[in-house]
Amino acid sequence: MNTTVLKAEGLGKTFPGRSGLASAGRSKGVRAVDDVSLSMNAGETLAVVGESGCGKSTLGRLLLRLIEPTEGEVSIDGTDVSSLSGGEMRQFRRHAQMVFQDPFGSLSPRRTIARIISEPMESFGTEATARARRERVAELLTQVGLPTAVMDRKPRHFSGGQRQRICIARAISVSPRVIIADEPVSALDVSVQAQIINLLQDLQEDSGFAMLFIAHDLAVVRHIADRVAVMYLGRIVEIGSKDQIYTAPQHPYTQALLSAVPEASPTRRRKRIVLGGDVPSPVKVPSGCSFHPRCPIAQDICRTTRPALAHKNGGSEVACHFAAPNPLG
Ligand SMILES: Nc1ncnc2c1ncn2[C@@H]1O[C@H](COP(=O)(O)OP(=O)(O)O)[C@@H](O)[C@H]1O
Ligand SMILES: [Mg+2]
Repeated sequence: MNTTVLKAEGLGKTFPGRSGLASAGRSKGVRAVDDVSLSMNAGETLAVVGESGCGKSTLGRLLLRLIEPTEGEVSIDGTDVSSLSGGEMRQFRRHAQMVFQDPFGSLSPRRTIARIISEPMESFGTEATARARRERVAELLTQVGLPTAVMDRKPRHFSGGQRQRICIARAISVSPRVIIADEPVSALDVSVQAQIINLLQDLQEDSGFAMLFIAHDLAVVRHIADRVAVMYLGRIVEIGSKDQIYTAPQHPYTQALLSAVPEASPTRRRKRIVLGGDVPSPVKVPSGCSFHPRCPIAQDICRTTRPALAHKNGGSEVACHFAAPNPLG
């Protein structure tokens, strides 16, 4: 049975524009996330990929209501999070935890590992006594593959991978239903990345949280994703099962991203697609399909009419007037 844990509908975020010398005239603001709808089931990993600046982190923060949406709704386990008061929201955060990219910046240097991992348990009151929290910390350290003896040390004694294990222990300490992992391995050595990904996968199997796994390319998420959403300038341009995205990508942007993944198609040689055109800016989103200035198959309609996300060709949902599965063969 599939249980929907998280549902977002029509989410959008416009950050106020800067007025000043740097911007000529009044800017309409930064359209960081635009009309994003998605849902996640218990135990499922949805990967969100796209170039830097396309709105992935903003989407993650909107889903946890760490920032207020300009429009749209989010519900977690059927509770509309936008209806919660400040105090209710603080309590509700227990069900949705975040793991960040930077395992250095996200741990306070003066606290011991035990204190750091205990923070959510203290603020949500999930373990009544200091002794119970310490026991739970020991259990969590074992779960994330660290010796329990490290709990009285400070973060500076640990490597990037170990610090990310500590961040993960902290995130799962209160048994959240949703984890948003924002580029959790991007700052780590390649050799360590797979270990952290495997750890997240094992923990998910044990506890069944839904995970939004943010990454900037398709290489990293290949082994962890059940489904993949590809973002471009704040919008989901394609979303589908891992198989649909990796074996029959339909959007020219997905195809370009995939062509940069060396082992994407072991049996066939893919030609590397290098996108031309300007680097996109959410301050000035192009008309029609926002990808059209860089699109190798764009036609007139693409400059004027924005394509809706829709199921096409029996495959993924794709926002493209001319979507065709995997024409690169
Ligand atoms: N607090 C903010 N104020 C203004 N602009 C922001 C803010 N946060 C993000 N942005 C802008 O929103 C866009 C999307 O950013 P972000 O969500 O961080 O993208 P990504 O995580 O995909 O790199 C970028 O253009 C970024 O500069
Ligand atoms: Mg980001």
